[in-house]
Amino acid sequence: MNKDIAKRNAAEEAVKYVKNGMVVGLGTGSTAKIAVDLIGAKLNEDFQIVGMPTSINTKLQAEGLGIKLIEIDEADTIDLAIDGADEVSPDMSLIKGLGGALLREKKVEKKAKELIIIVDEGKMVQKLGRGELPVEVSSNDYETIGSKIEALGCEASLRIEKDGTPFVTDNQNYIYHCTFVDGIEDPASLDASLQSIEGVKDTGLFLNMATKVIVGNDKGIQIIQ
Ligand code: A5P
Repeated sequence: MNKDIAKRNAAEEAVKYVKNGMVVGLGTGSTAKIAVDLIGAKLNEDFQIVGMPTSINTKLQAEGLGIKLIEIDEADTIDLAIDGADEVSPDMSLIKGLGGALLREKKVEKKAKELIIIVDEGKMVQKLGRGELPVEVSSNDYETIGSKIEALGCEASLRIEKDGTPFVTDNQNYIYHCTFVDGIEDPASLDASLQSIEGVKDTGLFLNMATKVIVGNDKGIQIIQ
């Protein structure tokens, strides 16, 4: 599979759902970036949307394309959000956030009446947890938080920059990448356990949120809904 073609095919399909006048959550990552570019290219006198970006990177991209933007707290509901994902299971449960923007992504996408996920087919898994699960945590006392996360049965490693310092999110938090040797048996109960740890800001588990997954491949797309 050519990932770039697959991502583009998925993004092109998703952008068809963007209608004039909508408020649209703009995702983060390489696949969402293609969709944001395509939305920008659609704008004209008769076709305008308002975007709610999920990261500073996406905000800068959208501003450069002339997309009118609002902040997270300026609307309680939005029409649509389009974003990528790191893993998608058959019931449309997701792992997101390996791009480092999970807290804002979840805040925006919880407001969306429709959440369209765009992925290349390599992101499809039978069981979540094939790769790492990102968990955003407070930078205060992060080591204690990390030990509590590991007590749930994973190995948690702090996301580190090339210069050896911790990666800091747009919200000034740190991220643990959690590895579950046999995958994640029960995503909902794991999410609840993680959320109950003091200092955990959010997890990369996006459950019962996606309304449509557009899976791109070399030749076209497949839709799960
Ligand atoms: C960003 O924090 C993530 O949730 C991305 O949506 C996810 O990592 C997918 O990114 P790619 O489209 O670059 O694979």
